[in-house]
Amino acid sequence: MLQKQSILIAGGGSTFTPEIVLLLLERQADLPLKELKLYDNDAKRQAIVGEACALLVKERAPEVMFSYTTDPKEAFSNIDFVMAHIRVGKYAMREQDEKIPLKHGVVGQETCGPGGIAYGMRSIGGVVELIKYMEQYSPNAWMLNYSNPAAIVAEATRRLCPTSKVINICDMPIGIEENFAAILGLPSRKELDIRYYGLNHFGWWTSIRDQEGKDLMPEIQEYTKKHGYLSPQLASDPHLDASWRETFEMVKDVATLDPTTLPNTYLKYYFYPDRVVAHSNPHHTRANEVMEGREKRVFDECQRLVAQGHAKDTHFEIGAHASYIIDLARAIAYNTKERMLLIVENRGNISNFTWDAMVEIPCLLGANGYEPLHVGAIPTFQKGLMEQQVAVEKLTVDAWIEGSYLKLWQAITMSKTVPSADVAKAILDDLITANKEYWPALK
Ligand code: NAD
Ligand code: G6P
Ligand code: MN
Repeated sequence: MLQKQSILIAGGGSTFTPEIVLLLLERQADLPLKELKLYDNDAKRQAIVGEACALLVKERAPEVMFSYTTDPKEAFSNIDFVMAHIRVGKYAMREQDEKIPLKHGVVGQETCGPGGIAYGMRSIGGVVELIKYMEQYSPNAWMLNYSNPAAIVAEATRRLCPTSKVINICDMPIGIEENFAAILGLPSRKELDIRYYGLNHFGWWTSIRDQEGKDLMPEIQEYTKKHGYLSPQLASDPHLDASWRETFEMVKDVATLDPTTLPNTYLKYYFYPDRVVAHSNPHHTRANEVMEGREKRVFDECQRLVAQGHAKDTHFEIGAHASYIIDLARAIAYNTKERMLLIVENRGNISNFTWDAMVEIPCLLGANGYEPLHVGAIPTFQKGLMEQQVAVEKLTVDAWIEGSYLKLWQAITMSKTVPSADVAKAILDDLITANKEYWPALK
């Protein structure tokens, strides 16, 4: 019998919470639950999602204790895992992160370029606060963090909480590997043995093999030349938003920069920023698409369920894409030694790259945390790009810790998405005004 686990979802009012709750209930054979709690610092949002989730749990797994709260002590006491997905400033600030750079002709994106830097400056304090609560009330617990921008958050936790039990992870490589499996006609990404290295939202697959060791890269590369990562399944999916379709298709061009590897979709913002800007509508960005789409759908559905008093006919679906987070908890809880991509300190695993950079590489996961796997030396093209990007991330964390205007100006100037120090300064000054409530004061 596997020992039952107590889990806290921090950012419990998130649009992803109901489908993750359904998934947790569905996968109890892998990760049995004693207790499930939700925590958010927005009481109204938390109550709407919390009441709907209470119905889901009551109907599907009444033996699991369930509650939601905005009280840190109640939330963080007696737990084994914190699954953290907060968005400091919510979608209203994501909209600013996207629109302010675009106003200056620069990529406006949630995690890349100046928008990602701005989001990082908001997230650091929020995530560090969650870690402090966890250590105060459940010192043996682990935090599985996928709050964005994961690269900057991971660098901040490395610096500010070096001994904390925090694991930073991203679902983008996992989502792309699902596309690889679909392209190959395989039932799941779990059939694939992969090698990958890079930074978060900034990496490359160097090998994709089946369980017998057969090289599957050539077949995917052939497909990618025509369709990018838009698998036949995705191409016919009516729920796929236009912006994601474009991103998957654009891999066609992103991949040409290095025909020996396969790239993360996010590299489009660094290789083709001019094209991305030309295709963006500065008055209607991804944040608007999400607020009008996913956010509205999720909150309308929560309110519908609560009003009718049951969830038997719910439109919420099990969030299969989030199953990596359960695999991760399970690996730690039951010492499975599963191999997963994590964002960890390099420490020579990429042998010719900065020792203390936070890199995304395969790791083995067990009861004592992660053991990174050795990558070896990487080529000049990737190394150069990564050195520049990691400097952006480190300078952003410096700026947050020191309250330094200069460091943040350097960070934005350093981003490959930004053409000059003048443009960087103009964007920075607008971002400072927009983020007054959230950023430390900069001198
Ligand atoms: P959302 O705005 O719907 O939900 C985030 C919630 O966090 C909100 O309810 C908000 O009130 C809450 N929150 C904000 N600051 C908080 C704090 N200091 N303490 C507690 N709660 C706080 O956002 P979403 O689109 O559901 O995304 C949630 C997070 O997950 C974001 O950071 C997003 O970027 C991230 N995400 C990461 C991945 C990944 O692979 N790493 C994938 C998807 C989403
Ligand atoms: C992927 C990335 C996440 C990012 C999300 C944005 O899942 O890995 O880090 O937050 O995409 O998706 P959205 O639908 O909110 O634009
Ligand atoms: Mn991600």
